[in-house]
Amino acid sequence: MRICVTGGAGYIGSHACKALAEAGHEVIVYDNLSTGHRRFVRWGPFCHGDIRDTVRFRACLREFRPDGIIHFAASAYVGESVMDPGKYFSNNVGGTLSILEAMRDEGCPAIVVSGTCAVYGQPGAVPIAETCPPNPINPYGASKLFMERMLADFATAHSLRWMSLRYFNAAGSSAQGEIGELHEPETHLIPRVMFAALGIIDAIDIFGTDYPTPDGTCVRDYIHVEDLARAHIRALERLLAGGENMALNLGTERGASVREIIQGVAEIAGRMVPCRDRERRSGDPAILVADAARAREVLDWSAQKNLSSMLQDAWSFFAAQKGA
Ligand code: UFG
Repeated sequence: MRICVTGGAGYIGSHACKALAEAGHEVIVYDNLSTGHRRFVRWGPFCHGDIRDTVRFRACLREFRPDGIIHFAASAYVGESVMDPGKYFSNNVGGTLSILEAMRDEGCPAIVVSGTCAVYGQPGAVPIAETCPPNPINPYGASKLFMERMLADFATAHSLRWMSLRYFNAAGSSAQGEIGELHEPETHLIPRVMFAALGIIDAIDIFGTDYPTPDGTCVRDYIHVEDLARAHIRALERLLAGGENMALNLGTERGASVREIIQGVAEIAGRMVPCRDRERRSGDPAILVADAARAREVLDWSAQKNLSSMLQDAWSFFAAQKGA
């Protein structure tokens, strides 16, 4: 396949490019480098552009004639989305609309998009299956849900083929360490615990210790970024082979608490991680764990890497960054 990857210079996007190239596919990266890294573009030609620039994106489709698109380019901070919803509706909803219009006009048939478990909001029960009614509680989740609505409507009107992969918490990095999780600012738990272990920050704040969970801290389903990358390739292959349009959860179906992550990092780093108990962060559900049965069935996919390999790979990446 020849695939255009939007956001291919970012964290999950660059891992998808690597997996596509390793599987023998051709990759074209389209990214505005607002949060991505030019040095993460290593597996194919690079088009520098914003997804909202439909003329530029159409020109890229016309030049390379991809068989399909994997769309990662998005704004993805829950807290920022509450403070600046316009950015999220512009980039995620407006940007996706621009891509869909370009696909319609250039005859590109299929797209796999980066979805999120944030579409479920505060689910009543876990594990969460796709049958759980979406009810996002922040503009980020709402923008990703609206993307799915646009995909469905473009499919009806223009025979576009689509899948939205609703991931739980992406973690880890390529074992080779040439790409990894580099956000500015970094708000995610695992990188911040590693920063605390490396002395880059003084301590990790634990947001909430009174949740109804076994140790009082929030539980999340962390999934290795390479497992996510593999699922995107499967999804696109499936669509191009005539598979159905749908949204699918991607997770390991196992939860880990904030304290378990801190403990896991301390074991890998061989040192104590300084922690501070803090108030709950607003908008955090107590437990988010995937039911990924549908992805298993439709994509013949399941997560291969466990939490310890996610932490190990992430640690190698961050420790090398610090040494660099
Ligand atoms: N946490 C801390 N301290 C920190 C950072 C996080 O205790 O310094 C806690 C959070 O409160 C949460 C857990 O660690 O309970 C995980 O937090 P992250 O910020 O790493 O991830 P989120 O679960 O908030 O967000 C992720 C993705 C979003 C996605 C969301 C779905 O980053 O894009 O999952 O819930 F929308």
